[in-house]
Parts: sequence; C-alpha cells; structure tokens
Amino acid sequence: DTYKIAVIPGDGIGKEVVPAAIEVLDEVAKLDGSFQFQWTYFPWGCDYYLEHGEMMPDNGLEVLKQYDQIFLGAVGMPELVPDHISLWGLLIKIRRGMKQSINVRPAKLLQGLESPLKNPHDFDITVVRENSEGEYSDSGGRIHSGNDEIAIQNAIFTRKSTERAMRYAFELAQDSRKHVTSATKSNGLTYSMPFWDEVFNAVKTDYPEIDTSVTHIDALAAFFVMKPQAFDIIVASNLFGDILTDLGGAIMGSIGIAPAANLNIEREYPSMFEPVHGSAPDIAGKGIANPIGQIWTGKMMLDFLGHSEAGTRVLNAIEKVLASGVKTRDLGGSSSLEEVKAAIIQSL
Ligand code: NAI
Ligand code: MG
Repeated sequence: DTYKIAVIPGDGIGKEVVPAAIEVLDEVAKLDGSFQFQWTYFPWGCDYYLEHGEMMPDNGLEVLKQYDQIFLGAVGMPELVPDHISLWGLLIKIRRGMKQSINVRPAKLLQGLESPLKNPHDFDITVVRENSEGEYSDSGGRIHSGNDEIAIQNAIFTRKSTERAMRYAFELAQDSRKHVTSATKSNGLTYSMPFWDEVFNAVKTDYPEIDTSVTHIDALAAFFVMKPQAFDIIVASNLFGDILTDLGGAIMGSIGIAPAANLNIEREYPSMFEPVHGSAPDIAGKGIANPIGQIWTGKMMLDFLGHSEAGTRVLNAIEKVLASGVKTRDLGGSSSLEEVKAAIIQSL
C-alpha cells in the first residue's frame, strides 16, 4: 500500500519536528516492507498568512480531501498573528471541516522517564474526547437586564456524537486492558450529563466483555494522580477531555512528547495527526525541540492505518532511546533534536 499524506509542518518547531518524524516513519515503513508513504508538503500557516492574508487557500479543504491522512506540526506565531486567527483559520477549520469528531490522546509513563508523580505505577491511559460539540458549542449569548449582566453558554450533546465517542472508546478497550471509564458530572449538570450517563449505559450493553466505571470529573482528576493504575480508556466530553489530557501530558513529564489524533472514524474524510504541543516560539530554530511528540503522533497514524506492528516498533524505539539517556532539554537531557532522531532511527 502507498499512503498519500498531506503534510502541514506549520510554524515554529513544527518545521523541525515534522521532517524528523517523517524520516522515522519512512524508515519503519522500509523495515516493515508492506507499505510506503507519499508525502506532499503544504506551506500553510502564519508565514502563508503574512504573505496572502489567509492561513490556507480558499479551496484548502477540498485539496486536503484528496489525501488519505493529514500530518500536522503546530500552528502559531503569536507575536505576528493573533492566536485566534491562526487557530480558527487552519486547525479548527480542518478539524470541523473534515468532521474529525473524536480526539484521542494517550498518556503513558515511558520507560526511561521519571514522572513528577509520587506514585506513577502503570500510568497508561487513553482519553477519548468528543471533539465537535458539548461545552464547546458556539451557542449562547449575553444579556443586559436592568443592572445585571448575564452570559449564557449552551452545551449541546447529540445522541449521535455522544454515542460515537463512546463506541470508539469501547473498541479501543477491546485491544487494551478492557476497561472503560465514563467521565461524568451528573450530580451537578442536570440535563447534559444525565443524558451522557444514559447513552453510556445503553452503549455498554453491546460490549459485555468490557468492564466499566462511571466517575465524576472532579474525583477523576484526583484519581488520575492518586491511582492512575485504575484507568485504561476514559471517554469524556469536549471540555472534560480537554482538561484531563493536559493533566495526562503533565504526568508524562513533558508536553514535548505528548501525541494526539483528530479522527474521522467513519473514514469519510482524512483524519489529522498533530501532537499536543504548540509551535514553541521560545525554542524555535535552535535545533533543541523534542521530536518525540511528533514521532509518537506518527505512531498513532500507523495504528489508524492498520499497521500497529510498525507502530509498536516506533514506540519501543522511543523508549529504548530514552532509557539510554539520549534526551532533549525539556526532559532534563542535553541532546539535540538531530541526536534524538538519529538514535530512534538507529534503535528501530
Ligand atoms: P507550546 O506548546 O508551543 O509551548 C509551551 C512550552 O513547552 C514552551 O516553553 C515550549 O518551549 C515547550 N515545548 C513545547 N513543545 C516542545 C517540544 N517539542 N520540545 C521541547 N519543548 C517544547 O505552547 P504555547 O507557548 O502556549 O503556544 C505557542 C504557540 O503555539 C501559540 O501561537 C499557540 O496558539 C500555538 N499552539 C498551537 C497548537 C497546535 O498547533 N495544535 C497547540 C498549542 C499551542
Ligand atoms: Mg487543551
């Protein structure tokens, strides 16, 4: 198989970590022998904006639809382009335009790394976040009433999207440790979360082999830190998932290693694979960015394409390199991006 991948390095360290990850992915494809990648670069992002007045061309989404998947670095040049323009002009446009309604973020303590947690036993959790609606729905308004002022933000939960995220979590659990936790808050939110619970209870009857638990989001945040070994797959609404995954990234040791995927699980349009971190203008151009977040994100793309053996090979190589002490500065080491990349390719 040959996969046509649209590559958007974006801004800042995106331009450094994306080519590094592509080298690693080409190498693992060569070793595997059953597939290869055909990369097409798109120079979209803030430089493009400064030249053309838009983050991507008008027909950008149509162009992207011709590719199997999208591999993106990071977008943002906050000193020259306001973040809301760069975010909504490219990232959100693609996520919503391609109906990437699920965001998956694994968090796991890799071999060779220390967590800031006191008790990080078996920290290996994947959060499945509903990525298209919920608390981040563009619905609401502001009212002035006499001397008072009111802001209303509606949270919209459709059965379709809620169920889709939950089913995906159960599917993932089948290949994992067979446990799904639902993040709820039905003691405080009187319409949305009781509905969320109801859909969860209905979906789980289709997966009798999977254990489940239901935990309020506040307690869940505490348990994440106190007893992470209790969790395998967590399914969460847009807001709850957003918060939990940042916590997960912190527990892993550096935002520079955290991977993520925006999935169109129906495979009607391409999915987009982009690490959790941003363009890191403070270290851009210095060759010291950690490429592991982008490389691990590439592993998620391999998994999604059905090459999980190759994916496992990439993650094993990352862990071996970390355990050998080759680390960038964000992880307390002194190696450069090039050195980490070369060591990972060597270790493959
Ligand atoms: P950031 O993730 O770019 O940086 C936060 C801190 O983490 C910085 O100190 C940075 O040096 C460090 N860091 C991030 N990635 C690293 C890596 N791979 N290796 C080593 N250190 C790393 O977040 P920040 O500073 O809030 O945002 C910078 C720009 O990136 C903004 O324009 C923001 O909007 C954008 N951004 C874009 C995202 C995306 O494209 N998905 C996500 C988050 C932010
Ligand atoms: Mg966030």
